[in-house]
Amino acid sequence: MGARLDLYNSAYSNYESEVYRQVRIETYGQDFGQTSWVTTEESREIPQILQLEASSSVLEVGCGSGRYALHLAETVGCSIMGLDVNAPGIDNANQLATTSGVAARARFEQCDVSKGLRYNDETFDAAFANDVLCHIPGRLNVLCEILRILKPGGRMLFSDALVVGGMIFHEEIATRSSIAITCTVHRERMSD
Ligand SMILES: C[S@@+](CC[C@H](N)C(=O)[O-])C[C@H]1O[C@@H](n2cnc3c(N)ncnc32)[C@H](O)[C@@H]1O
Repeated sequence: MGARLDLYNSAYSNYESEVYRQVRIETYGQDFGQTSWVTTEESREIPQILQLEASSSVLEVGCGSGRYALHLAETVGCSIMGLDVNAPGIDNANQLATTSGVAARARFEQCDVSKGLRYNDETFDAAFANDVLCHIPGRLNVLCEILRILKPGGRMLFSDALVVGGMIFHEEIATRSSIAITCTVHRERMSD
């Protein structure tokens, strides 16, 4: 296992820095405060896929900077709860919420979702996680928890981008997986 990278602390602590903003714009086109592999086109599809309406209550698991959750609250009018284990991310999200004008409908809490979700059964209309579940040990429990807190007919969406193919050294796998919990499958040639 390689040394752990200070990736999210830097991204969320420096959210307001012009350099980071420029990197996000050059990477994604539209700045949603992302640190994921989700494209801007995919970000725009999420409200439709989740059938979000102004009356929807939504949970974002691993909300990072909080900017995308706020974007949904602003554009759809839904209520949203963002959870992330990263303290600078939640601090940033709460600061953005305060100045956004939608603070009454967008709330953010620091939470390690691998330890369960503190909400009652059937609380949310929709839940999503953009490139988060790959980081979480025991992620099947997280999926079960999300199922529990969704109302009947609720929608869930998640993405992850961690496929590595071709020839690769162990050191490179260790470096790439140092911020995630990964499962490596070796496909071996079948002998006659
Ligand atoms: C690739 S980033 C994606 C952030 C955001 N969804 C986005 O699209 O920009 C992964 C996020 O998962 C969060 N995360 C990792 N493990 C977590 C856990 N156990 N509980 C809650 N959040 C976690 C990280 O802090 C980070 O913000």
